[in-house]
Amino acid sequence: MDLTKKELIYEGKAKKLYTTEDPKYLIVEYKDSFTAFNGQKKATMSGKGVLNNKISSRLFELLAKNGVESHFAGQIDDVHQLVRRVKIVPLEVIVRNITTGSLCKRLGVEEGMKLPRPLFEMCYKDDALGDPFIIEDHALLFGWATKEEIDKIKEISFKVNDILKDYFAGKGVVLVDFKLEFGKDSDGKLMLADEISPDTCRFWDSSTGDHLDKDRFRKDLGNVMAAYEEIWKRISE
Ligand code: TMP
Repeated sequence: MDLTKKELIYEGKAKKLYTTEDPKYLIVEYKDSFTAFNGQKKATMSGKGVLNNKISSRLFELLAKNGVESHFAGQIDDVHQLVRRVKIVPLEVIVRNITTGSLCKRLGVEEGMKLPRPLFEMCYKDDALGDPFIIEDHALLFGWATKEEIDKIKEISFKVNDILKDYFAGKGVVLVDFKLEFGKDSDGKLMLADEISPDTCRFWDSSTGDHLDKDRFRKDLGNVMAAYEEIWKRISE
């Protein structure tokens, strides 16, 4: 297959998407840019694209081995992945194992509580609205996803959580929470999409509690790239 980029069709905050010779596949390019608070805070850090590409590729491979299909079709080079072309379902789904972040802000619940079972949340993927929190009925009534799709998304999300939580526990990392996106291919087949990286997950070191993810950027904690390097080091060992 010809792995050259044809046309830039989308540029997001952290990735660019290009068409290929094959209409069923796209090339994703991971950028060095950081954004937070819906793009209000910005920075560029050299090496970030490479690390997120490597980490995300490794995690998609791990999920595939464990029976979770995604758009990932292979890592091409340092910053590029080949992916199946899908239409993104406009939902950002979040799975939480420990309370923190927007959950604590929204509900006033204590930080750092271990939940008795994973919590599943949904946001409407719309930058102009700041990806608002929604309930399932909004998605159904406004046609963002069907009941069958939401049930499948929920089932896959919990499976991803089970696989990644155990995997990271073995690497001395607590999987606190994460965000997933899903897409549908030209046959309407639903699958996991986007990326899985320290941009989209919260990782806490099991012994020190150190934050090894994008919260270092969001909260100006410093050593941002060192944290991403540390995640890559743990999973590549
Ligand atoms: P939150 O606590 O800020 O809602 O974040 C929950 C999880 O989702 C956390 O792992 C970070 C991730 N996330 C994204 O991937 N993209 C986003 O735009 C936001 C707000 C969070």
